[in-house]
Amino acid sequence: MHGSFSIFLHLIGFGFLCTGLLGGWIVERRIRKESDWGIKLTMLKASRALGLLTPVAAVIMLFTGIWNILNLYPTEPSLWLTQGWLVAKVILFAFLLVNGALFGPIISRKRAALIRTLHEGNASDEAEQTVRIFSKNLTTFYLVQTLLLLVILSLSVFGGGMTPGAS
Ligand code: HEM
Repeated sequence: MHGSFSIFLHLIGFGFLCTGLLGGWIVERRIRKESDWGIKLTMLKASRALGLLTPVAAVIMLFTGIWNILNLYPTEPSLWLTQGWLVAKVILFAFLLVNGALFGPIISRKRAALIRTLHEGNASDEAEQTVRIFSKNLTTFYLVQTLLLLVILSLSVFGGGMTPGAS
């Protein structure tokens, strides 16, 4: 038996990322369908717990990705810059990180604050409409993150050279 420990951990990180993204999206859809503000608030807690998985996954992906590079080019690590698929992957990963660290959490936090005021009954007239707009923004956020992840995965599988059955 032989294999790469860095790829093993890289794929575990990928699993965490998929769980956070897919789980977050499923809970998000349930939150949108729920009409009771109190239940929405409780579900937001589950969504936040899933969301916390993604920064952990991102750190694992980054460190094991660098480890993969060191394994691929042990004598001259800077050679990774000559691999177009890898450079494109790292750039898209940076987009994924910025989007995931800023837009998602900011919109989510603002919406949670509004839902809390609606639940407590002291919300402004346009609060419900704003919650709907934030929810639409979050749908777009999940869509963009999923697309980025799929492109990164395609670059990894079709750009790299380890896939069994590759021709
Ligand atoms: C969302 C982020 C990422 C995903 C989904 C991902 C996915 C993958 C997958 C599935 C493989 C295995 C490919 C195969 O064996 O055919 C792989 C390999 C690799 N990844 Fe990543 N990765 C991500 C982030 C990164 C980052 C940030 C780096 C660099 C800093 C990186 C560097 C590498 C390298 C060097 C390999 C080895 C390629 C080879 O041996 O041919 N990855 N990645």
